[in-house]
Amino acid sequence: MFKVLISDNMDAKAQEVFIKNNIDVDIKTGLNEEELIELIPNYNALLVRSATKVTSKIISAGNNLKVIGRAGSGVDNIDLESAKKNNIIVMNTPGANSNATAEHTLALILSILRKIPLSNKSTHEGKWEKKSIKGNELSKKVIGLVGLGNVSLRLIELLEGFNVKILIYSNSFEKRKISLSNISNVSNLSLNELLSESDILSFHCKSSMDGIPFINSNELKKMKKTAYIINTSRGNIINENDLNEALNNNLLAGAALDVFSKEPAVKNILFKNPKVILTPHIAASTFEAQIKVAEMIALQVCDYLVNNKIVNTV
Ligand code: MLT
Repeated sequence: MFKVLISDNMDAKAQEVFIKNNIDVDIKTGLNEEELIELIPNYNALLVRSATKVTSKIISAGNNLKVIGRAGSGVDNIDLESAKKNNIIVMNTPGANSNATAEHTLALILSILRKIPLSNKSTHEGKWEKKSIKGNELSKKVIGLVGLGNVSLRLIELLEGFNVKILIYSNSFEKRKISLSNISNVSNLSLNELLSESDILSFHCKSSMDGIPFINSNELKKMKKTAYIINTSRGNIINENDLNEALNNNLLAGAALDVFSKEPAVKNILFKNPKVILTPHIAASTFEAQIKVAEMIALQVCDYLVNNKIVNTV
Protein backbone atom coordinates (compact mmCIF):
# COMPACT_ATOMS: atom_id res chain seq x y z
CA MET A 1 0.00 0.00 0.00
CA PHE A 2 1.26 3.48 -0.85
CA LYS A 3 1.91 5.98 1.94
CA VAL A 4 1.66 9.75 1.68
CA LEU A 5 2.88 12.43 4.08
CA ILE A 6 1.20 15.86 4.15
CA SER A 7 3.66 18.18 5.91
CA ASP A 8 1.92 21.58 5.58
CA ASN A 9 -1.53 22.85 6.51
CA MET A 10 -3.79 21.89 3.66
CA ASP A 11 -7.53 21.62 3.13
CA ALA A 12 -9.01 18.29 4.34
CA LYS A 13 -9.99 17.54 0.70
CA ALA A 14 -6.45 16.21 0.10
CA GLN A 15 -6.75 13.63 2.87
CA GLU A 16 -10.25 12.63 1.65
CA VAL A 17 -8.93 11.94 -1.85
CA PHE A 18 -6.21 9.59 -0.55
CA ILE A 19 -8.57 7.73 1.78
CA LYS A 20 -11.05 7.24 -1.08
CA ASN A 21 -8.25 5.75 -3.18
CA ASN A 22 -7.10 3.39 -0.39
CA ILE A 23 -3.83 5.24 0.09
CA ASP A 24 -2.44 5.65 3.62
CA VAL A 25 -2.03 9.29 4.56
CA ASP A 26 -0.38 10.95 7.56
CA ILE A 27 -0.61 14.66 8.36
CA LYS A 28 2.39 15.97 10.30
CA THR A 29 2.97 19.70 10.09
CA GLY A 30 5.67 21.96 11.55
CA LEU A 31 8.45 19.35 11.18
CA ASN A 32 12.04 20.55 10.99
CA GLU A 33 14.61 19.22 8.50
CA GLU A 34 15.97 16.52 10.87
CA GLU A 35 12.48 15.25 11.69
CA LEU A 36 11.57 15.06 8.01
CA ILE A 37 14.82 13.27 7.16
CA GLU A 38 13.96 10.63 9.76
CA LEU A 39 10.34 10.18 8.60
CA ILE A 40 10.63 10.47 4.82
CA PRO A 41 11.89 6.89 4.11
CA ASN A 42 8.42 5.65 5.19
CA TYR A 43 6.63 7.51 2.40
CA ASN A 44 6.10 7.28 -1.35
CA ALA A 45 4.78 10.83 -1.71
CA LEU A 46 5.21 14.15 0.09
CA LEU A 47 2.59 16.92 -0.19
CA VAL A 48 3.55 20.49 0.73
CA ARG A 49 2.44 24.09 0.42
CA SER A 50 5.15 26.70 0.97
CA ALA A 51 6.15 26.27 4.63
CA THR A 52 8.08 22.99 4.24
CA LYS A 53 11.49 23.55 2.70
CA VAL A 54 12.15 20.36 0.77
CA THR A 55 15.95 20.34 0.87
CA SER A 56 18.38 18.04 -0.94
CA LYS A 57 19.04 16.21 2.37
CA ILE A 58 15.34 15.40 2.76
CA ILE A 59 15.09 14.30 -0.87
CA SER A 60 18.19 12.09 -0.64
CA ALA A 61 16.83 10.43 2.50
CA GLY A 62 13.57 9.57 0.69
CA ASN A 63 14.52 6.04 -0.42
CA ASN A 64 10.89 5.24 -1.27
CA LEU A 65 9.89 8.70 -2.40
CA LYS A 66 8.40 8.81 -5.91
CA VAL A 67 6.67 12.19 -6.03
CA ILE A 68 6.56 15.60 -4.31
CA GLY A 69 3.28 17.48 -4.77
CA ARG A 70 3.01 21.25 -4.28
CA ALA A 71 -0.51 22.49 -3.51
CA GLY A 72 -0.02 25.80 -5.29
CA SER A 73 2.11 27.00 -8.15
CA GLY A 74 5.52 28.25 -6.89
CA VAL A 75 8.06 25.48 -6.32
CA ASP A 76 10.88 27.63 -4.96
CA ASN A 77 10.67 25.74 -1.62
CA ILE A 78 11.62 22.47 -3.34
CA ASP A 79 15.17 21.58 -4.44
CA LEU A 80 14.26 20.69 -8.03
CA GLU A 81 17.77 19.73 -9.08
CA SER A 82 18.06 17.23 -6.30
CA ALA A 83 14.60 15.82 -7.06
CA LYS A 84 15.63 15.31 -10.69
CA LYS A 85 18.90 13.63 -9.68
CA ASN A 86 16.95 11.23 -7.47
CA ASN A 87 14.28 10.51 -10.13
CA ILE A 88 11.55 12.05 -8.03
CA ILE A 89 8.70 13.75 -9.88
CA VAL A 90 7.66 17.24 -8.72
CA MET A 91 4.10 18.34 -9.52
CA ASN A 92 2.20 21.56 -8.85
CA THR A 93 -1.33 22.86 -9.51
CA PRO A 94 -1.07 25.59 -12.13
CA GLY A 95 -4.17 27.74 -12.46
CA ALA A 96 -5.94 26.43 -9.36
CA ASN A 97 -5.28 29.55 -7.29
CA SER A 98 -4.98 32.07 -10.14
CA ASN A 99 -8.39 33.66 -9.61
CA ALA A 100 -7.69 34.17 -5.89
CA THR A 101 -4.30 35.75 -6.66
CA ALA A 102 -5.70 37.97 -9.43
CA GLU A 103 -8.53 39.18 -7.17
CA HIS A 104 -6.06 39.97 -4.37
CA THR A 105 -3.89 41.89 -6.85
CA LEU A 106 -6.91 43.96 -7.89
CA ALA A 107 -7.78 44.52 -4.22
CA LEU A 108 -4.24 45.81 -3.59
CA ILE A 109 -4.38 48.10 -6.63
CA LEU A 110 -7.68 49.64 -5.54
CA SER A 111 -6.58 49.82 -1.89
CA ILE A 112 -3.44 51.76 -2.69
CA LEU A 113 -5.12 54.07 -5.22
CA ARG A 114 -8.00 54.87 -2.85
CA LYS A 115 -5.87 54.88 0.35
CA ILE A 116 -8.19 52.34 2.00
CA PRO A 117 -5.81 51.16 4.80
CA LEU A 118 -5.01 54.78 5.79
CA SER A 119 -8.68 55.83 5.66
CA ASN A 120 -9.71 52.81 7.69
CA LYS A 121 -7.13 53.51 10.41
CA SER A 122 -7.88 57.23 10.62
CA THR A 123 -11.68 56.72 10.66
CA HIS A 124 -11.37 54.13 13.45
CA GLU A 125 -9.38 56.79 15.34
CA GLY A 126 -12.29 59.25 15.00
CA LYS A 127 -10.29 61.70 12.85
CA TRP A 128 -12.85 62.12 10.00
CA GLU A 129 -10.25 63.17 7.39
CA LYS A 130 -12.85 63.65 4.60
CA LYS A 131 -11.17 66.82 3.32
CA SER A 132 -7.55 65.65 3.29
CA ILE A 133 -7.83 62.09 1.97
CA LYS A 134 -8.08 61.99 -1.83
CA GLY A 135 -7.40 58.97 -4.00
CA ASN A 136 -6.81 58.25 -7.67
CA GLU A 137 -9.07 56.40 -10.09
CA LEU A 138 -8.05 53.23 -11.87
CA SER A 139 -9.96 54.19 -14.97
CA LYS A 140 -7.74 55.33 -17.90
CA LYS A 141 -4.51 54.26 -16.16
CA VAL A 142 -1.73 52.26 -17.83
CA ILE A 143 -1.26 48.88 -16.16
CA GLY A 144 2.07 47.14 -16.80
CA LEU A 145 2.18 43.39 -16.20
CA VAL A 146 5.46 41.51 -15.91
CA GLY A 147 4.69 37.93 -16.92
CA LEU A 148 1.75 36.48 -18.82
CA GLY A 149 0.77 33.33 -16.90
CA ASN A 150 -2.60 32.27 -15.49
CA VAL A 151 -2.72 35.08 -12.90
CA SER A 152 -2.03 37.82 -15.46
CA LEU A 153 -4.62 36.42 -17.84
CA ARG A 154 -7.27 36.37 -15.09
CA LEU A 155 -6.29 39.85 -13.91
CA ILE A 156 -6.66 41.16 -17.47
CA GLU A 157 -10.21 39.73 -17.53
CA LEU A 158 -11.00 41.35 -14.18
CA LEU A 159 -9.69 44.69 -15.42
CA GLU A 160 -11.98 44.65 -18.47
CA GLY A 161 -14.56 46.96 -16.94
CA PHE A 162 -12.06 49.56 -15.78
CA ASN A 163 -11.17 51.08 -19.15
CA VAL A 164 -7.42 50.74 -18.64
CA LYS A 165 -4.58 50.27 -21.11
CA ILE A 166 -2.63 47.07 -20.47
CA LEU A 167 1.04 46.66 -21.34
CA ILE A 168 2.83 43.35 -21.00
CA TYR A 169 6.44 42.28 -20.73
CA SER A 170 6.61 38.54 -21.30
CA ASN A 171 8.63 36.02 -23.30
CA SER A 172 5.50 33.92 -23.77
CA PHE A 173 3.38 36.75 -25.26
CA GLU A 174 3.29 35.21 -28.77
CA LYS A 175 2.35 31.78 -27.38
CA ARG A 176 -0.41 33.09 -25.12
CA LYS A 177 -1.79 36.03 -27.08
CA ILE A 178 -4.59 33.86 -28.44
CA SER A 179 -6.10 33.94 -24.92
CA LEU A 180 -6.22 37.73 -25.24
CA SER A 181 -8.04 37.85 -28.56
CA ASN A 182 -11.25 39.23 -27.01
CA ILE A 183 -9.43 41.87 -25.00
CA SER A 184 -8.71 45.29 -26.39
CA ASN A 185 -5.89 47.63 -25.48
CA VAL A 186 -3.18 45.04 -24.74
CA SER A 187 0.36 45.12 -26.16
CA ASN A 188 3.75 43.56 -25.52
CA LEU A 189 6.73 45.84 -24.79
CA SER A 190 10.32 45.77 -23.64
CA LEU A 191 10.99 46.00 -19.91
CA ASN A 192 12.32 49.57 -20.28
CA GLU A 193 9.17 50.69 -22.11
CA LEU A 194 7.01 48.98 -19.49
CA LEU A 195 8.88 50.72 -16.67
CA SER A 196 8.59 54.18 -18.16
CA GLU A 197 4.97 53.94 -19.35
CA SER A 198 3.17 52.16 -16.49
CA ASP A 199 1.08 53.95 -13.86
CA ILE A 200 0.74 50.64 -12.04
CA LEU A 201 3.37 47.94 -12.48
CA SER A 202 2.31 44.48 -11.29
CA PHE A 203 4.52 41.38 -11.10
CA HIS A 204 3.22 37.93 -12.13
CA CYS A 205 6.39 36.04 -12.95
CA LYS A 206 8.75 33.50 -11.38
CA SER A 207 11.74 34.76 -9.43
CA SER A 208 15.02 34.66 -11.31
CA MET A 209 16.88 31.30 -11.19
CA ASP A 210 19.66 32.72 -8.98
CA GLY A 211 17.15 34.51 -6.72
CA ILE A 212 18.84 37.88 -7.40
CA PRO A 213 16.32 40.75 -7.82
CA PHE A 214 15.95 42.05 -11.35
CA ILE A 215 14.21 45.25 -10.26
CA ASN A 216 16.85 47.45 -8.62
CA SER A 217 17.39 51.22 -8.29
CA ASN A 218 18.33 51.49 -12.01
CA GLU A 219 14.96 50.08 -13.05
CA LEU A 220 13.03 52.02 -10.39
CA LYS A 221 14.57 55.29 -11.64
CA LYS A 222 13.00 54.65 -15.06
CA MET A 223 9.48 54.65 -13.61
CA LYS A 224 7.02 57.56 -13.34
CA LYS A 225 7.19 59.38 -10.00
CA THR A 226 3.44 58.89 -9.72
CA ALA A 227 3.60 55.13 -10.35
CA TYR A 228 2.74 52.27 -7.99
CA ILE A 229 4.35 48.84 -7.75
CA ILE A 230 2.25 45.77 -6.90
CA ASN A 231 3.83 42.38 -6.19
CA THR A 232 1.87 39.18 -5.55
CA SER A 233 4.40 36.80 -7.16
CA ARG A 234 7.74 36.39 -5.34
CA GLY A 235 9.53 38.80 -3.00
CA ASN A 236 13.02 38.43 -4.39
CA ILE A 237 12.06 39.93 -7.76
CA ILE A 238 12.37 43.45 -6.35
CA ASN A 239 15.31 44.75 -4.32
CA GLU A 240 13.51 45.86 -1.14
CA ASN A 241 16.28 48.26 -0.02
CA ASP A 242 16.22 50.01 -3.41
CA LEU A 243 12.41 50.13 -3.38
CA ASN A 244 12.40 51.65 0.10
CA GLU A 245 14.93 54.29 -0.97
CA ALA A 246 13.00 55.10 -4.17
CA LEU A 247 9.81 55.61 -2.12
CA ASN A 248 11.59 57.76 0.47
CA ASN A 249 13.12 59.91 -2.32
CA ASN A 250 9.70 60.38 -3.97
CA LEU A 251 10.77 58.50 -7.11
CA LEU A 252 7.62 56.37 -6.79
CA ALA A 253 4.17 56.99 -5.29
CA GLY A 254 3.74 53.70 -3.45
CA ALA A 255 3.86 49.94 -3.37
CA ALA A 256 1.54 47.12 -2.32
CA LEU A 257 3.28 43.83 -1.60
CA ASP A 258 2.08 40.37 -0.64
CA VAL A 259 5.48 38.68 -0.92
CA PHE A 260 8.87 39.26 0.69
CA SER A 261 12.53 38.42 0.11
CA LYS A 262 12.47 36.47 3.38
CA GLU A 263 9.31 34.74 4.57
CA PRO A 264 7.84 34.60 7.13
CA ALA A 265 8.60 38.35 7.16
CA VAL A 266 9.05 39.27 10.80
CA LYS A 267 11.55 42.02 10.05
CA ASN A 268 11.74 43.99 6.81
CA ILE A 269 13.11 47.37 5.67
CA LEU A 270 9.65 48.27 4.28
CA PHE A 271 7.81 47.82 7.59
CA LYS A 272 6.28 51.13 8.73
CA ASN A 273 6.91 52.90 5.39
CA PRO A 274 3.64 54.88 5.04
CA LYS A 275 3.72 54.54 1.25
CA VAL A 276 3.56 50.77 1.43
CA ILE A 277 0.64 48.37 1.93
CA LEU A 278 1.66 44.89 3.06
CA THR A 279 -0.17 41.55 3.31
CA PRO A 280 1.39 38.27 4.54
CA HIS A 281 1.52 36.17 1.31
CA ILE A 282 -2.23 35.59 1.35
CA ALA A 283 -3.08 36.31 -2.29
CA ALA A 284 -3.94 32.64 -2.86
CA SER A 285 -5.39 32.10 0.61
CA THR A 286 -9.11 31.89 -0.06
CA PHE A 287 -11.29 29.01 1.10
CA GLU A 288 -12.18 28.33 -2.52
CA ALA A 289 -8.59 28.23 -3.82
CA GLN A 290 -7.27 26.15 -0.93
CA ILE A 291 -9.92 23.48 -1.55
CA LYS A 292 -9.06 23.49 -5.26
CA VAL A 293 -5.27 23.18 -4.85
CA ALA A 294 -5.58 20.47 -2.17
CA GLU A 295 -7.96 18.35 -4.24
CA MET A 296 -6.05 18.87 -7.48
CA ILE A 297 -2.63 17.91 -6.08
CA ALA A 298 -4.04 14.89 -4.23
CA LEU A 299 -5.76 13.60 -7.39
CA GLN A 300 -2.59 14.11 -9.45
CA VAL A 301 -0.42 12.31 -6.89
CA CYS A 302 -2.91 9.40 -6.64
CA ASP A 303 -2.98 9.08 -10.40
CA TYR A 304 0.80 8.94 -10.51
CA LEU A 305 1.16 6.42 -7.68
CA VAL A 306 -1.63 4.14 -8.92
CA ASN A 307 -1.59 4.60 -12.72
CA ASN A 308 1.86 6.07 -13.35
CA LYS A 309 0.15 9.05 -14.99
CA ILE A 310 2.25 12.22 -14.94
CA VAL A 311 0.65 15.68 -15.15
CA ASN A 312 1.76 19.19 -14.25
CA THR A 313 5.37 18.32 -13.61
CA VAL A 314 7.84 21.16 -13.21
C1 MLT B 1 1.67 29.85 -5.02
O1 MLT B 1 2.84 29.73 -5.36
O2 MLT B 1 0.81 29.03 -5.36
C2 MLT B 1 1.26 31.02 -4.20
O3 MLT B 1 2.31 31.86 -3.96
C3 MLT B 1 0.53 30.69 -2.96
C4 MLT B 1 1.24 29.78 -2.01
O4 MLT B 1 2.34 30.04 -1.57
O5 MLT B 1 0.69 28.74 -1.70
